[in-house]
Amino acid sequence: MPTTDYDGPIHRDYARGRALKAEQYAAWADAFGQHLPGRRPLDGLDLGSGTGRFSPMLADSFGPVVGVEPSTGMRETAERSSAHEDVRYLPGSAEEIPLEDAAVDYCLLFLAWHHVTGRSQGAAEIARVLRPGGVLLCRAQFSDLMPDLWWLRHFPHGAEVDAAMYRPLSEEIETFSAAGLVPWPGLVRVEMPSAETKGEVFERLRLRTLSTLVRMPDADFRAGIAALEAEVERDRDVPVPRESITMLVMSKPDEAAY
Ligand SMILES: C[S@@+](CC[C@H](N)C(=O)[O-])C[C@H]1O[C@@H](n2cnc3c(N)ncnc32)[C@H](O)[C@@H]1O
Repeated sequence: MPTTDYDGPIHRDYARGRALKAEQYAAWADAFGQHLPGRRPLDGLDLGSGTGRFSPMLADSFGPVVGVEPSTGMRETAERSSAHEDVRYLPGSAEEIPLEDAAVDYCLLFLAWHHVTGRSQGAAEIARVLRPGGVLLCRAQFSDLMPDLWWLRHFPHGAEVDAAMYRPLSEEIETFSAAGLVPWPGLVRVEMPSAETKGEVFERLRLRTLSTLVRMPDADFRAGIAALEAEVERDRDVPVPRESITMLVMSKPDEAAY
């Protein structure tokens, strides 16, 4: 199965292919805010920041943000298209975060953790740069909790390709726990409003910026897009179903608080 090459053509279409609406940003800001320390400003790390889809919103909501991103194409797109006075983007990766110890109050990993190959090292780095009491917000899928996505059913073996990118929740908790982080009780579920129509989602999906679509054979992608187009032709203006989205939250114990 091919991996996702973010320095290939994907970075050109990523921002358009993965665009979010204002209602969706508001729902994410609310969900993040519920798990972060209450004081403001907070220093934030957007790890695997990509084209900067979340960094400016994090800066507006919580305080200054550093976006760390290994792909030059993705990072340069972020610098060009999502400039913000309280955001700076740095080259780096989860395995080598270019920040001092205890530099940030939270770290957001938004659909980036499954790309990290050195997970033990990445978890240790995240624990290192978090302050005591700091929080890891890990928006990810888990292979034992995969959602039944209305559009994915049209792609041959789509569900298998999707699940193969992820690991079970218990394994991810174990990796972060081994680095000294403590899980928030229970997996967080973020209720996303239905902000788009099937037609809008189809136009984004056909740009093939989702890793699941990148990793399937070209023939399966084409077959799925054709089948999906037939459904969307009938229901172009129908709102997509609401989604209940998984997010793992872990925190770095604050010894001083005990
Ligand atoms: C699906 S994109 C998500 C980007 C952004 N967080 C968002 O939600 O739009 C995954 C990102 O993870 C980055 N990535 C890949 N390997 C990584 C690593 N080892 N450490 C940090 N980020 C990594 C990729 O370059 C890519 O920009």
